[in-house]
Amino acid sequence: MEYTLRKAEPRDVSDILRLVKELAKYEEMEHQVRLTEKDLLEDGFGDTPFYHCIIAETQEENSSDDLKVMGFAMYYFTYDPWVGKQLYLEEFYVMDEYRGMGIGSDILRHLSDLAMKTRCSGMMFVVAENNESSVNFYKRRGAEDLSQEEGWRLFRFDKDSLVKMATPAEE
Ligand code: COA
Repeated sequence: MEYTLRKAEPRDVSDILRLVKELAKYEEMEHQVRLTEKDLLEDGFGDTPFYHCIIAETQEENSSDDLKVMGFAMYYFTYDPWVGKQLYLEEFYVMDEYRGMGIGSDILRHLSDLAMKTRCSGMMFVVAENNESSVNFYKRRGAEDLSQEEGWRLFRFDKDSLVKMATPAEE
């Protein structure tokens, strides 16, 4: 099957949100997706993009010119004070019917090229413990499980906690 990988453009936000929701559903957490197309547009395509996406697209079946977005990776750059620039892989998803054809590996090659070009020293990501097929997919490509090997735990302050710590709003 022929497909192309390209950088996402503003016109892709509805497809990005569709795939974000599909991945959340796959992880049985669909109800947690609050983001809108407007958020994606503002946050990814303004003066300071907070994320970037690589899109995989192919010719829609039975159509001569309609293209279908069937996979994507969302990433951004972070900074590690010990080793410097890191590429952070936030979302990675290929639609069920297109899996196992090498698209995911191709997306990872694309991101690895980018990481080399920007002199990143690694690519970080989080995988749900029960997502065994993906854990194995990453491990087969050399990923280390830092929770297991180094004992890191993932934390978050939610908005309520932030409000409590933040400077109170003036009356
Ligand atoms: N579905 C999934 N994997 C299959 C498969 C199928 N129907 N048939 C074969 N595979 C195997 C492939 O042989 C390949 O094995 P390898 O690791 O030995 O190369 C691997 O699974 C898939 O490789 P590839 O085709 O390059 O990747 P992909 O296009 O299937 O994309 C994912 C990989 C992880 C993005 C995709 O499987 C996916 O979207 N999974 C569900 C969402 C998810 O878990 N995302 C990651 C969250 S951290």
